[in-house]
Amino acid sequence: MNDRERLITGDDQEEEEDDEEEAGRRYGGHGSFRRLLESNGVCKWVEDLGLKRAAVTNAPRSNPELLISMLKLQDFFEVILTLKGPLRPIVLSIKGSNQPQICYILPSSLVCGISTTKSRKLYTYNQKHQRLSNFTMGVEQYLPPWFSVAPMMEWTDNHYRTMARLISKHAWLYTEMLAAETIVYQEKNLDRFLGFSPDQHPVVLQIGGSNLENLAKATQLASSYGYDEINLNCGCPSPKVAGHGCFGVSLMLDPEFVAEAMNVIAANTDVPVSVKCRIGVDDRDSYNELCDFIYKVSSQSPTRHFIIHSRKALLNGISPADNRKIPPLKYEYYYALLRDFPDLRFTINGGINSIDEARAAQNEGAHGVMVGRAAYNNSWALLGNVDTTIYGAPPSGLTRRQVLEKYQVYADSVVGIYGNNKPSLRDLVKPLYGLFWGEHGNGVWKRKADSAFHHCKTFKSLMEETIMAIPDSVLDSPVVDPYSTTCIDKFASSKNLLPPPYTVKEEEEEQLLYA
Ligand SMILES: Cc1cc2nc3c(=O)[nH]c(=O)nc-3n(C[C@H](O)[C@H](O)[C@H](O)COP(=O)(O)O)c2cc1C
Repeated sequence: MNDRERLITGDDQEEEEDDEEEAGRRYGGHGSFRRLLESNGVCKWVEDLGLKRAAVTNAPRSNPELLISMLKLQDFFEVILTLKGPLRPIVLSIKGSNQPQICYILPSSLVCGISTTKSRKLYTYNQKHQRLSNFTMGVEQYLPPWFSVAPMMEWTDNHYRTMARLISKHAWLYTEMLAAETIVYQEKNLDRFLGFSPDQHPVVLQIGGSNLENLAKATQLASSYGYDEINLNCGCPSPKVAGHGCFGVSLMLDPEFVAEAMNVIAANTDVPVSVKCRIGVDDRDSYNELCDFIYKVSSQSPTRHFIIHSRKALLNGISPADNRKIPPLKYEYYYALLRDFPDLRFTINGGINSIDEARAAQNEGAHGVMVGRAAYNNSWALLGNVDTTIYGAPPSGLTRRQVLEKYQVYADSVVGIYGNNKPSLRDLVKPLYGLFWGEHGNGVWKRKADSAFHHCKTFKSLMEETIMAIPDSVLDSPVVDPYSTTCIDKFASSKNLLPPPYTVKEEEEEQLLYA
């Protein structure tokens, strides 16, 4: 068997890769892809042939740079080529050229993120049966969570996520928090709480809870629904959750327990697990205390992804809404985490209000950007620009009229299916309120919809009766400014304020060593 055949047929051991390797490859962590390339002889083979190695992308330059550094492939790629527009024609023209034998194309799906069993099978299949030169671009895949929509109770329900997915193909969508107890006690009624359409991937389920048995059972029950990641809520300050419930942000005070919970969750799912937290609680708000939390949770559990809502929580009785406004944002803590935990993945959250701000956070090195309120209140401007601005896709030309037409099919197929008029037309129209934010006719349309709820029986009839309030020019124009170049300095200044580097306390290190 020559080198090329060895490379092409792959290695049976690939099929028995352990979960950690799979997760590592999925998010490009731990240099696992590099090891994979090396163990298969790809690096050496490519170098021996004297081939030039280029990473070719249509994403913003910061994306491949970040990915390549996470994969520890900096010395492998000689150049990064960033192109505007779709890559497929370029790939096809290379494959159709008269020297296909010297052009081997390794699609980004293998490098940057695969998260379905189907794709994993495809990977193994390609390893076994295909020449690398025969790999095709555009296989079903999810790009990494460079942009995600935050979990928001009563907002990011199935209806909102259905609409969001019609606007952005690539954004990762989080469910609203579901208490583990709700899942366990509603075992007979799970579709209502956990069901979602296959078109909605990638979707992350956020669970809340502090009872290990219920967390285990809830994760197990959720696993057949095919979520792409399971996230534990360690950031909710609501008295119902953090007070009586003793979960949400109060879990940040007990990192050992969070690690235990994450082990329990991970043991009951085969998808990655993550934690969403604040940067502190009340006076436990120093950077070192945040690092202790991250260090303990990541070193004692398989958690490799943390979403950092970059303000602390106050448990002094202020409302959850005020807890999202009053404590100041400290992005410098977030960027310091990137510096101090280079092997982990961190998503920045809190106060990011536009796509330009999301891109600015990314340009400053954020692994992922999570947007909450703005993605709900101004969904069109936010989500409509995600695929182009964050993921480098070409403009789709999508209009709001097209979104509404597709959403109408969904809405009329689900209205009232749970009996007792649930979901109601009101539930189904609610996610659309952010679609016309700031547009002429928005207020009138909402008022018309409000009165139409009383007599309309279908979503279609409600829209027919009300949509004339929105001008055709609004309904039929694609999202504006897909390649905006607005420069935002919001995050650059935080990088000048970084706290001193974290050092693990010696006794903690010892405790962990002997744990
Ligand atoms: C209505 C609402 C409900 C929320 N529910 C949750 C939740 O269920 N789980 C959670 O982790 N955070 C929840 N959050 C917090 C958001 O996920 C996010 O962390 C916060 O709004 C800050 O991001 P933003 O400034 O982009 O909105 C909620 C926020 C809002 C506005």
